Amino acid sequence: MAVSHPRISARISAIAESATLKVDAKAKSLQAAGRPVVSYAAGEPDFPTPEHIVEAAAAAVIDPRNHRYTPAAGLPDLREAIAAKTLRDSGLEVSPSQVIVTNGGKQAVYESFATLLDPGDEVLVPTPFWTTYPEAIALAGGVPVEVFAGSDQNYLVTVEQLEAARTERTKVLLFVSPSNPTGAVYSPEQTKAIGEWAEEHGLWVISDEIYQNLVYDGVRAVSIVEAVPALADRTILVNGVAKTYAMTGWRVGWMVGPADAIKAASNLQSHLSSNVANVSQRAAIAALTGPQDTVEEMRATYERRRRRIVDGLNAIEGVHTPLPEGAFYVYPDVTGLLGRTWGGVTPTTSLELADLILDQVEVATVPGEAFGPSGFLRLSYALGDDALDEGVARLQRLFA
Ligand SMILES: Cc1ncc(COP(=O)(O)O)c(C=O)c1O
Repeated sequence: MAVSHPRISARISAIAESATLKVDAKAKSLQAAGRPVVSYAAGEPDFPTPEHIVEAAAAAVIDPRNHRYTPAAGLPDLREAIAAKTLRDSGLEVSPSQVIVTNGGKQAVYESFATLLDPGDEVLVPTPFWTTYPEAIALAGGVPVEVFAGSDQNYLVTVEQLEAARTERTKVLLFVSPSNPTGAVYSPEQTKAIGEWAEEHGLWVISDEIYQNLVYDGVRAVSIVEAVPALADRTILVNGVAKTYAMTGWRVGWMVGPADAIKAASNLQSHLSSNVANVSQRAAIAALTGPQDTVEEMRATYERRRRRIVDGLNAIEGVHTPLPEGAFYVYPDVTGLLGRTWGGVTPTTSLELADLILDQVEVATVPGEAFGPSGFLRLSYALGDDALDEGVARLQRLFA
C-alpha cells in the first residue's frame, strides 16, 4: 500500500495568507463591482513612478545587454549606487561586494532570516510588526518572539522589554524604524540604547530601513549601525526603492551587510531567483542616482495628509492615534470603540470592527490582528486628499 503523505508540506501549510493583501484585494474587488469603497488598506504610494525613472527603464528595454542573465547579486552599477546611498542615509561605508540586489524588500527580508537562522533560533520582533516577518522567520526554522509596545509608549519598545524577552536562544533583533504598521520612529537616543544593548549581548540585527526617507517634522531615522558602528559586523540592512520612489511594482530591494553573510545570501539567491529583472535594476539606478526632487514632493504630500488623517481620527471619541513620524500609516488604538453597539453590531475585536466598517460605510482598513494583538486598525494615507477626507467623514458619522 502506498504511504500517505500530506498533500502540502507542514512548513508551507503553516503560512497564513498576507492579511494586508487580502483586505486590499477585497476592497479592490468591491470597487471593481462599482461600490464606492474608500480603501486605506494598501501599503503602497498612490503616485506614479517619477518620469525620469520610467524613461531610463524604457531605454533599457531596447538595449540587448539587458536581455540576458546578469550576476545574481545585482548589476555592478546598481550595487555601487546602493553602497553610496547606504553611506549617505545610513552612515555606513560598504563596498559593492557587501550589497545584494533582491526581488523587492520582501525577498531581502526572507533571505536575511534564511541566511542567519538555524532551527530553534529566536528572533525578537517588536510588536506591532509587519505581517511578513513572523512567516519569514518561521520558514527559516526560527522562532519569532513578540515584544509588544502599545499606544501608551507610541509603539516603541524599550531596552528593558527586549532584555526581559532575551534568552540563550536569541540570535537576532529585528529593528524597524520607521515602522510598518505604526509609522513610529525611534529617536537617535533610543536607537543608540537598543543598538548598544544588542552589541553587548552579541546579537545580530536585521534593520529594515525601507521607509527611512519618508520622515516628517524634521525627524531623521538614524540607522542603528550609524548610532552604534561596532554593530556593523553583525547587522543586515534591508531596503528598496518601492516606497521612496513609488516603485512597488518594479520589485527592486536589497540587503547590505558583512561580506560573509552577503556571500551566503548570494549563493541562496543564485538557486532561488538569480538576477532581478535588468530593466527594473536600470530603473533603480536612475532612481538612486538621479534628481531627488520628486521624492521630496511626495514626502511633503504625505506629511500634510498625515496631520489631516490624525486630526480626523482623533476627533472620534474612543479613538487614540499617536502622531507618527514616518512611513505612510497611522495606527489608531480603537479599544475604546470595542464592546459598544454600532448600527446594531457589537464588535469585540478589531477584526470585527474592520468588518463592520467595511460593511456599513464601505471603508477598508487593516485590523490589528494582522500585526499582533487586537485593538488597533492600520490606515494608509497614501491615497488622494478627497478620498482621505471622505473616508474619515464616513468613520466620524458611523461612530458619532
Ligand atoms: C516594513 C516593510 N519592509 C519591506 C517591505 C517590502 O517591500 P517590497 O517588497 O515591495 O520592496 C514592505 C512592504 O510593504 C514593508 O512595509
